[in-house]
Amino acid sequence: MRVLSGIQPSGAFHLGNYFGAIRQYIDLQEDNEAFYFIANLHALTSLRDRTRLEDLTRDAAVDLLALGLNPEKAHLFIQSDVPEVSELTWLLMTVTPMGLLERCHAYKDKVSQGLPAEHGLFSYPVLMAADILIYDSEVVPVGQDQKQHLEVTRDIASSFNHMYGDVFRLPEPLILKEGAVVPGLDGQKMSKSYSNTIEIFEMEKAQRKKIMRIVTDSVPVEDSKNPDTCNVFQIYKLVVSDADRDAMEQRYHAGGLGYGEVKKELAEAVVTYFAEARARRETLLSRSDDVSDILKTGAMRAREKASEVLDRAQKACGIGRIGCW
Ligand code: ADP
Ligand code: TRP
Repeated sequence: MRVLSGIQPSGAFHLGNYFGAIRQYIDLQEDNEAFYFIANLHALTSLRDRTRLEDLTRDAAVDLLALGLNPEKAHLFIQSDVPEVSELTWLLMTVTPMGLLERCHAYKDKVSQGLPAEHGLFSYPVLMAADILIYDSEVVPVGQDQKQHLEVTRDIASSFNHMYGDVFRLPEPLILKEGAVVPGLDGQKMSKSYSNTIEIFEMEKAQRKKIMRIVTDSVPVEDSKNPDTCNVFQIYKLVVSDADRDAMEQRYHAGGLGYGEVKKELAEAVVTYFAEARARRETLLSRSDDVSDILKTGAMRAREKASEVLDRAQKACGIGRIGCW
């Protein structure tokens, strides 16, 4: 299967991003042809600081590689390194009804939060459709929040196919499990928007300090506690073996366990879980040429496929190679 997904470079990755999305992307590279990219064109709709966008884009690529994305197995590239995507976006726009975009929750939510109603934000889903359709993607793993954008992609592809013939393959969404929602420091969903995140690669000392701040209930130390409603345990169980998870569960039920103690153990477990990734990241940071080579190769592979599909779309609607006759 050809799998594709994009990740916006909107800030350092946190545990929610890893357990909710990145880990699944990495698993999918094993038995599929995977295309993963850093969506810097999409990020332009909310980030207007050149240096910060450049840094975040590169950091996102480094972090994905450190976390186990294997460039021998998956094509990793930067969205803007495949200019064919922007060309296809225009073709798709010409068949996209305004109403389809007006119904998109992500656009409506962002405008209601005070973001200016700019055209880029409005047509964000069309660029996303181009990202997906240009690689003949079959499966697109995304979080629940992107489900509607996948439906829009299928609608746009169907309109184009209806008008011009069988040009685009209709992709299937793979909606990442809701059950995998990781709580943040305050118990809400961990998210950059709530400033309640634990970043994967932040300094160990700062990470430990944050973990000590995770909100818990006020059940006294000696009493039995419920691991299922405890934010600390919800994260703990993600970073330890099944045996350690079960043992901790017993300790919760038995009583005599203080939350401070669990938090200390969680901090240790997080450090151990990501130790290899941290070491890989250090190596990657000292070899920036290697990262550039990986991204160049990824973009080259992506462009091979993208130019083939763009060519097909251009020919179908009557704008293919007119100046070359
Ligand atoms: P944020 O909410 O921090 O801005 P993004 O929206 O950029 O994160 O999320 C990127 C990916 O990570 C999405 O696929 C999203 O579903 C997943 N994700 C983010 N936060 C969590 C979480 N707390 N639990 C599970 N998955 C998450
Ligand atoms: N909009 C997606 C997000 O914010 C990122 C993205 C851009 C994407 N293009 C994509 C995801 C194509 C999947 C496929 O999470």
